[in-house]
Amino acid sequence: MVSNTPQLEDAHAAEQEAEGPLRILCLEDSEGDFILLREYLRDAKFNPTPELVRAETMSAAKEVIEGRNGSDTFDVVLLDLSLPDSHGVESLVTLRELIPTTPITILSGNADRDLAVRMVKEGAQDYLPKDSLNAELLTRSILYAVERQRSQTEMAELNKRLKRATEDLKTAQMQLIQAEKMDSLGRLAAGVAHEVKNPLATLQMGVNYFDRRAEELGEGGEVMVSHMQDAITRADRIICGMVDYSRSDNLSLELKDINEIIDVAVGMIQHQILRTNVEVSKDLAAGLPKVRVDQGKMEQVLINLMMNAVQAMSENGVNGDGSHGILEVSTFPAEVEEIDRDEGIRHAERIRARDSVVVVEIRDHGPGIPEEKLNRIFEPFYTTKPTGEGTGLGLSVAKNIVDLHRGVMQVKNADDGKGVIARVMLKSSE
Ligand SMILES: Nc1ncnc2c1ncn2[C@@H]1O[C@H](COP(=O)(O)OP(=O)(O)OP(=O)(O)O)[C@@H](O)[C@H]1O
Ligand SMILES: [Mg+2]
Repeated sequence: MVSNTPQLEDAHAAEQEAEGPLRILCLEDSEGDFILLREYLRDAKFNPTPELVRAETMSAAKEVIEGRNGSDTFDVVLLDLSLPDSHGVESLVTLRELIPTTPITILSGNADRDLAVRMVKEGAQDYLPKDSLNAELLTRSILYAVERQRSQTEMAELNKRLKRATEDLKTAQMQLIQAEKMDSLGRLAAGVAHEVKNPLATLQMGVNYFDRRAEELGEGGEVMVSHMQDAITRADRIICGMVDYSRSDNLSLELKDINEIIDVAVGMIQHQILRTNVEVSKDLAAGLPKVRVDQGKMEQVLINLMMNAVQAMSENGVNGDGSHGILEVSTFPAEVEEIDRDEGIRHAERIRARDSVVVVEIRDHGPGIPEEKLNRIFEPFYTTKPTGEGTGLGLSVAKNIVDLHRGVMQVKNADDGKGVIARVMLKSSE
């Protein structure tokens, strides 16, 4: 321990020269004790000479600290235990609140030695018996106090980082489990789809057969056939969705202008747009870099997102008062600043900070998605729409496709709380 002292002092001397003088606050009401302390500090040969500020009372100390903007104003505090306006542990607690990270060394007279020891246990860095104080003891105590505090702060910082790393690990683990679940679901879906497609084809043939003999069946029969046809169409839609969800390879990538793909996708849902009285407002950036995409699949992503937007606005009576729901579609180039922590892990090998991307943003002015449901919307078959209207596969299929393109898809509520903003980010290829 003792042999370490010169090393610590040497190291500290070098550091101190670079950082400027030590700033010491001394809470001492006795003039004589303070003068003695100042002498010891002078003899201690700190280089540069420490800045020593004296406060005779706790309220004077408060004023000094607050006048200097609180924390990080002193490197160490020397605290006499019996001040006119504060005593013992109370003084320590008050100082801790004022300057939580500054080390405090207790100056103790003979009478309050036990109390001083107790206060070290309560978090004071050290205690110095006034009667045996000298320059060397003072130097060592101050340097150790500063050093110990520094290590404690570093340790707290490391601890914080460790906690964060553990949280990241947990998130990654959860995502892995989720990915695994999705993967088996995909395989299951493919199997079910395959098995159901054949019997469905047989049913379709039967319905076609009866449809051709509609007159013979009478009115009741015709209605029945029409219901059967609806049911087959719905089942077929679900099966197609499942096949899309599970078909995870075979992208046929080409360099494309995303704006052109948007125009095609909007054209494909023109019918629904007109029917629901939604107005489309496009703001597509000119001269965007091209992106490497599978055009058909990317059209499907955009259609699924736009259909959700259109449905959110029409289903919820946005048009009820005669006003139009506006579907805003925009594109712009961007440089990725930061990917959310969750996405950062999941997309570690995909888009990274500072990558150039093309962003497609689809915004509606519907009711938005309740916070508690946001983390479920990408689950296959999760839907809040009435049976027969939504399969709950739209977003999971879209996300799968964007993932395959090594892009990022985000669906969030708009900051003003009105509607949803869906974003697709794809890496620029030029
Ligand atoms: N723009 C939006 N506004 C409000 N809710 C939305 C929006 N987009 C998605 N959702 C919610 O997320 C759910 C899942 O969406 P998803 O597209 O996967 O399935 P779906 O639209 O219900 O069915 P499908 O797309 O198969 O017709 C929806 O049922 C809805 O509750
Ligand atoms: Mg949908």
